Amino acid sequence: MSKEILKTLHKIPTHVAIIMDGNGRWALERGLSRLAGHKAGTENLREIIEASAEFGIKYLTIYAFSTENWKRPKEEIQGLMRIFKTMLDRELNNLHKNGVQLRHIGRLDGIGKELQKKVREAIELTKDNQTLILNVAFNYGGRDEILQAVKQIVANGVNVDDLDDDQFAKYLYTAESPDPDLVIRTSGEFRCSNFLIWQNAYAEWYFTPTYWPDFNRNELYQALVAYNERDRRYGKVKQDKEK
Ligand code: FPP
Repeated sequence: MSKEILKTLHKIPTHVAIIMDGNGRWALERGLSRLAGHKAGTENLREIIEASAEFGIKYLTIYAFSTENWKRPKEEIQGLMRIFKTMLDRELNNLHKNGVQLRHIGRLDGIGKELQKKVREAIELTKDNQTLILNVAFNYGGRDEILQAVKQIVANGVNVDDLDDDQFAKYLYTAESPDPDLVIRTSGEFRCSNFLIWQNAYAEWYFTPTYWPDFNRNELYQALVAYNERDRRYGKVKQDKEK
């Protein structure tokens, strides 16, 4: 995308979070297996990661596997685990070279040992990269995240009078990331599906009917154009007026 077109964007969201939905329907329409849809959804993911860095987005969070996805057929679950593994094997060096810092949000202990190891190694390898922080939500659920935060707070004996929004957020998986500014959901569904339910309190939402495997650089640009038209007030009357 040319620099001229990018200049039309006056504000770039610091943190974009994406619910990558519609892989199954994309595959069904082509007479392919659901797993073929998920595989296709990794191809455009590469383009979206690169475009995010190019647009100046600093944090990108992707919803790859939810705590509810365990209820899917066994073959699909195993396939998604394999896809994550393959993605790490194939893409890690390139991500590292491009300054992407990989982080994981969710329950790592719930997934296979080999995959856990690969994720830990990828986090370690990329920990000093600063071009783009990529949070991969894998075995992630928003309610689960809040519950584990509450349990830790109780276990640590935190004085409730010391607890406010900022303190609470330190116990979430996203403690090191600012709240999302923009959440994108593909495939024409209008739900939050247990995704970053604390963090998205003031996020702007963008919905597109496009299935995830077809969501490309230009679609991301369109989402940013829509974001530029939003007036974020955070409960106030006007963004620039202190009440
Ligand atoms: C939702 O589509 C998509 C998922 C549950 C998986 C998303 C995974 C990828 C895009 C692959 C990349 C993976 C990693 C680990 C980075 P759906 O299956 O619910 O689609 P449907 O609603 O059309 O059935």
